[in-house]
Amino acid sequence: MPIQKTATIWHNGKLIPWENATIHVMSHVIHYGSSVFEGIRCYAQPHGAAAIFRLPEHMQRMLDSARIYRMELPFTLDELCAAVVDVVENNGVAPCYIRPIALRGYGEIGVSPKGSPIEVYIANFPWGKYIAGHGGADVCISSWNRLAPNTMPSLAKAGGNYMNSQLIHMEAEINGYAEGIALDVNGLLSEGSGENVFVVRNGVIYTPPLSNSALSGITRDSVLTIARHLGLTVTEQSIPREMLYIADEVFFTGTAAEVSPIRSVDRILVGDGNPGEITRQIADEYLGIANGLRPDRFGWLTPVKVNNRETVTA
Ligand SMILES: Cc1ncc(COP(=O)(O)O)c(C=O)c1O
Repeated sequence: MPIQKTATIWHNGKLIPWENATIHVMSHVIHYGSSVFEGIRCYAQPHGAAAIFRLPEHMQRMLDSARIYRMELPFTLDELCAAVVDVVENNGVAPCYIRPIALRGYGEIGVSPKGSPIEVYIANFPWGKYIAGHGGADVCISSWNRLAPNTMPSLAKAGGNYMNSQLIHMEAEINGYAEGIALDVNGLLSEGSGENVFVVRNGVIYTPPLSNSALSGITRDSVLTIARHLGLTVTEQSIPREMLYIADEVFFTGTAAEVSPIRSVDRILVGDGNPGEITRQIADEYLGIANGLRPDRFGWLTPVKVNNRETVTA
């Protein structure tokens, strides 16, 4: 989907016109993938209000990603959260997707990032449903593995990691699937190109631990919290590939994907091919909280004052 531009982008503490948020082709990030970023959703709330979902957790993850890559961001967690609220309120677009990014800019050439300044940008724009497929997505196991430990750190949400994600996603798309799921370097279930994966069998919910090269998804954490709150049994444990073929339910989680049921894996139907009861229960609670239709019992919403100035077509 083409990006729907908004009026301004936050850059290093100031709001600048969308068109001016450009970088030089010789910037370090262009050549060496040196960026860390976030994806956050802002949801419409009843009576014309809007709220950002788990804003501090996302910005803390961006600080963590930066720390892993020895990038010193010149902003605190509170300043970054305030900046996100600032850009969303100024652009007057909600619901929306928010993309903060910190990158190594224009300075010196060479792999060493020393001498390339850190630039922080925050953009927001309308973005609708991410995972294609009505009533569940048809997915495949990728021939590409997820990042092996000690190669690229999976806990950092870094731009460079998404070269691997692109291989997984393109292969799936070319072969007629909505998305690909990658195994880790040992052949155990890891994650989708941009989502965490959950499996339900005999009433128990399983998801791979972070040591299977999965990103520490904020939605993954929300789903684990919701499942425990609903009294469901959840376990983080290594999962063999074939568990997907005999599962009662499989679903993706992610900020973009939200809670998305999976209908088939490698053309093998998941259960009877319809979204399962546990997936539905969790999705209802997740979207209920995000959209302000159920109590914000875990304190996940940051209210924003948005008077929609732009038409949202997502
Ligand atoms: C590789 C990968 N795994 C998992 C996720 C889900 O993370 P979150 O729920 O924080 O959006 C994402 C999306 O950010 C991702 O890109």
